[in-house]
Amino acid sequence: MTLKDIQQPVSAELDEFRTYFRSAMRSDVRILNLIVRYLLRKKGKQLRPTLVLLSAHACGEVTGATYQGAALVELLHTATLVHDDVVDDADRRRGVFSINALWKNKIAVLMGDFLLSRGLLLALDAREYDLLHVVSDAVRRMSEGELLQIEKSRKLDIDEETYFRIISDKTASLLSACTRCGAVSVRADGETVELMSRFGEQLGLAFQIRDDLFDFGQTDVGKPLGIDIREKKMTLPLIHALREAPSRERRRILALVGKSEKSNGDVAQVAAFVKQYGGLDYARGRMIHHADAARGELTALPPGDARTALDNLVQFTVSRRR
Ligand code: IPE
Ligand code: IPE
Ligand code: MG
Ligand code: MG
Repeated sequence: MTLKDIQQPVSAELDEFRTYFRSAMRSDVRILNLIVRYLLRKKGKQLRPTLVLLSAHACGEVTGATYQGAALVELLHTATLVHDDVVDDADRRRGVFSINALWKNKIAVLMGDFLLSRGLLLALDAREYDLLHVVSDAVRRMSEGELLQIEKSRKLDIDEETYFRIISDKTASLLSACTRCGAVSVRADGETVELMSRFGEQLGLAFQIRDDLFDFGQTDVGKPLGIDIREKKMTLPLIHALREAPSRERRRILALVGKSEKSNGDVAQVAAFVKQYGGLDYARGRMIHHADAARGELTALPPGDARTALDNLVQFTVSRRR
């Protein structure tokens, strides 16, 4: 099932969101508008606004607050991607050059700040303080997650528990904020709001494991491959393989990962090691586990096209090609 099929129950609402999103990004500074136009040409999957809209629809009737929530999360997501590519020194995003690759880090940092503040102001102008609170908390956790990841990449001492803390903070927090905002925007009862938050959290964990698996693949996903290893970012497949390997092999691979300048051959050796010691299969297993947990939460919702679409979105998340 394609993402477009999944978005069908909220396709009109997504169009409305897009107009709102576009207008929130406008500025009268020329360079800003230039970059905004560049960003708007490659939209990405718009998974987060889709989640807000489908969650709202699954728990009640879409309101003005739902649209504000959808625009807010996509603005903050875009801001964090622009910053993330600076942090990761990544030159590609969504199949084209990243902002830092084209305009350098200085401009990318300020651009990210601009988008972040536009998102926060949008919620303030609409007096949507509950949404603002939920999403601001997710942004705080995203920064903490990215920083903990940097700390761990310096020491190369990450374990599985810490990995899950990192991906919960840097990714699942925002997906959980999306599903929560959707529910809050239609004034769902407290129990439903908690259920939707748990759904988003589990979906987010599966989503980030899928992303981390991409890094070991060969297929074009629109962003650099092998970059996690290059940046000493130790993700679940590698963590598991290191746990399984005999200590001599483990030391050899850790030395490779620790090199600050890696050749393509170094990266390929680490990838082959991860495959050999079952790291990819293990990570796939954990991903499916969290996808199933997400699905399990949905069964408590009233059946309908939005619930079905959310269920399909879980399937999409674990089988997606980008
Ligand atoms: C990328 O998110 C960042 C991660 C959390 C892995 P998406 O894969 O949703 O990015 P776009 O918006 O579709 O480009
Ligand atoms: C996710 O981390 C980005 C954020 C949560 C900001 P990654 O660094 O793994 O994401 P990609 O792979 O660059 O999209
Ligand atoms: Mg990155
Ligand atoms: Mg990644």
